[in-house]
Amino acid sequence: MGLTANTRDCLRRFLTSRGSIADTNGKPLRPGGTQEVVKDDAAAEMPQEDADDDRRFASTLRNVVGEKRHKAWFEGRVGFDLSSNDTLVVSAGSTLECDCLRKHFKAELKQACRAAGLGARSIEFVVDAAVAPTPARQDRPAEPALKAAPAPKAPPKPSEAPGFLVSDSNREAAKLAELIAAGSPAPSPVVLWGRGGTGKTHLLRAIADGFRSRHRRKRVVRLTAEEFTSGFVEAVHGRTLASFRGRCRGVDLLLIDDIHFLLGKQKTLEELQYTLDTLAAQGADVVLTSDRSPAELRRMSGELLSRLGAGVAVEIAPPDHSLKSRLIERFAQQSGVRLEPAAVRIIASGLIGGAWEIRGVVNKLGLSSRLLDLDICEKAVGRAIDDMNRVSTPSVGVKQIQEAVCSVFGVETGVIKSKRRTKSATEPRMLAMWLSRKYTQSAWSEIGDQFGNRSHSTVISACRRMDELLGSEASVHVAGRRRAICSRPASRSVTLRPMASFRSFAIVPAAGRSCRMGRQKLLLPFAGRPLIEHTLQAWTASAVERVVVVVRHGESTLRSLCEDFPVDVACVESSPDMRATIEAGLDFLQSTWQPSNHDAWLTAPADLPTLSSGLVNTLVDAYEPKDPAVWVPESSGRRGHPVLLPWAAADSVQSLPSGAGLDQLLTEAEVRTLSVSGDDLPRDIDTPEDYRQLEKPMTDRHSIKVNGQTHAVTTSSDRPLLDVLREDLGLTGTKYGCGEGECGACTVLIDGVATRSCITSVEEVADASVETIEGLAGDELHPVQQAFIDQRAMQCGYCVPGQVMNAVGLLREKPHATEAEIVEAMNGNLCRCCNYRNLRAAILQATR
Ligand code: FES
Ligand code: FES
Repeated sequence: MGLTANTRDCLRRFLTSRGSIADTNGKPLRPGGTQEVVKDDAAAEMPQEDADDDRRFASTLRNVVGEKRHKAWFEGRVGFDLSSNDTLVVSAGSTLECDCLRKHFKAELKQACRAAGLGARSIEFVVDAAVAPTPARQDRPAEPALKAAPAPKAPPKPSEAPGFLVSDSNREAAKLAELIAAGSPAPSPVVLWGRGGTGKTHLLRAIADGFRSRHRRKRVVRLTAEEFTSGFVEAVHGRTLASFRGRCRGVDLLLIDDIHFLLGKQKTLEELQYTLDTLAAQGADVVLTSDRSPAELRRMSGELLSRLGAGVAVEIAPPDHSLKSRLIERFAQQSGVRLEPAAVRIIASGLIGGAWEIRGVVNKLGLSSRLLDLDICEKAVGRAIDDMNRVSTPSVGVKQIQEAVCSVFGVETGVIKSKRRTKSATEPRMLAMWLSRKYTQSAWSEIGDQFGNRSHSTVISACRRMDELLGSEASVHVAGRRRAICSRPASRSVTLRPMASFRSFAIVPAAGRSCRMGRQKLLLPFAGRPLIEHTLQAWTASAVERVVVVVRHGESTLRSLCEDFPVDVACVESSPDMRATIEAGLDFLQSTWQPSNHDAWLTAPADLPTLSSGLVNTLVDAYEPKDPAVWVPESSGRRGHPVLLPWAAADSVQSLPSGAGLDQLLTEAEVRTLSVSGDDLPRDIDTPEDYRQLEKPMTDRHSIKVNGQTHAVTTSSDRPLLDVLREDLGLTGTKYGCGEGECGACTVLIDGVATRSCITSVEEVADASVETIEGLAGDELHPVQQAFIDQRAMQCGYCVPGQVMNAVGLLREKPHATEAEIVEAMNGNLCRCCNYRNLRAAILQATR
């Protein structure tokens, strides 16, 4: 480029007046000018002694710092101004470079000045864009013209990064990563979130590598949250904040791994927020990873969350079955472990977790086979899976318990947090509170807070009630049917299933609609509801933990009928046979729920109108994970009965020869039958006449014995006994207090045991004898009633019937109960008038 005479004159004058600016080779550099101009014109005009100083200083510096470091840090990228007698001005292209030179070379620069005979000088660092390395400086020497340059290698895509496998569970994230690595327009910031072992860090590294290899001149910084935090803290303490910010903000792509570790570090989060703002203003891309979605990073400030919300969050789901299988094969190959395809299948089906857990299991199997010379048999694989699942299963929280309980009871979580006192709300609430106390570290009040801000005493009361039921061997299924919680005292049998040992699933084939009666059967009303609704109610009220309904693609009516239930819907192609339908359900479960070896699955068609939750529960109760077998109800000749199979049978279904149906499986398997009682016996309906026979009112006739008298009541089976006593039998002495089994106002005696009638269903007292306050006195008052009068144990009197009945129940069991025993027994009967002293005195009097 040519310069005008005037410009050359200005340059000359400038150089003459200010001395020279030379690079480390002694070649002069000038701000704002091109390299050639400065070389040609300015060097020619430099005073000889200045040029000597520059050359001497350059060669001395090379000796002092060493050839290698000189080349890396100074050559072609740093300028020196020696024109002042007491200061050496060092120019570098960025703040970051100046900071580095100051930190690492200040002493050596001073030493070089002294060694070059320039005296002791102070060192000043200045940023000068003109001395930033230009692309031309960075280029390697050109290849000889005749030598053909090798064809540029296509940079790898993130999804092709070594070891990164793509499946449905991470496809979206992998595609987005490719977009960012290619430098194509993408939303920013991107948050890739998912559990540990889903490949977030792997993908982040692949994005960084892909971006670097495509855009060599752009700056990429990849940090862990810990590096970001410690870098920021060090920068604050070392007063190098500008350098830290230059590093994080002067980039084209910033990647930070595991930002959830920043939660609670307020200053660091603020720094991250400002960094995001700066990068957004510059149009730079940001990719972050987290173990939870942005919505769950609640402890971040609203501003930062809104910054994250402006971009896009993509979940990386835990590996699905196919990805797990490929990971297992890869890890096994890497570790030299020989695994049979069956073992791979078992691990992929049974192991909970991601890549880390898979690697752990493969390592364990490899180690035991090498060290102990053991075969990798099915048992060994099962053991390794169980060990790993036990270690890696995350601890449960109150929220998860609420969701699990609500899904079993078929209610929204809002119901158990609401003020509702119906049985359908109180039972799941009570159970969820009890489980929360048992399986989490939460305090009483914390649990109460999460159940609609209830007080700690409400939680204590609910837990006590559950403990009573368990302590007295009441039948309680953690994942079980509703009425089992409030079972009648007379029939107390405990089957509290250990939660982790065995899970049960249902696969409901509803792919099409049966037309056996000439009309589409699934949509016929049965007892006022379509058949499928009836069946789904039975499934969801049973102990089955997860229900998968298999429908055909395009079966919108069936799908919409499923929407009201907490069930999953899997799809099959049109015209499937029963086996194809079951296989679709199995595939769905394998890919979403990851059953383990101990689990079991049931199947029964959705058009089975007489399916009852009792029948399902009977089957589930019969299952023994340690001795798995196929279980069918006794009347096995009928169609459509639920059949329970060990999870291992899923493999057998998939490997049935073509053309063979599920029946063949039952002929080969070890089948056990169990008897079922009349109501639970499933009946098939094939004709309109069958159907009419079955369509009966939902109410039942109940015969109950109250105060020695038998009454016939027609009502629904789960109606509270309290309502029947008060409304149907007119026995209003028993009071309604809380309706949740907490205040004791509704206490009656059932077979002589004090029981809360508000949470006892009429069905549960079918064979029992009920006593209410009306039946207590004969010709004379009962001694407890008399004692209450003597001791003035009544103020408003509302709680008294319940107090009396509870006291009577206690004294029948312990006629000479001590004061401590009285206090303990009466603890759950509340008196809003706080007349406790007189109440206690009355009961003590009755013991004499
Ligand atoms: S009404 Fe309160 S315990 Fe029954
Ligand atoms: S006497 Fe009033 S509630 Fe007990």
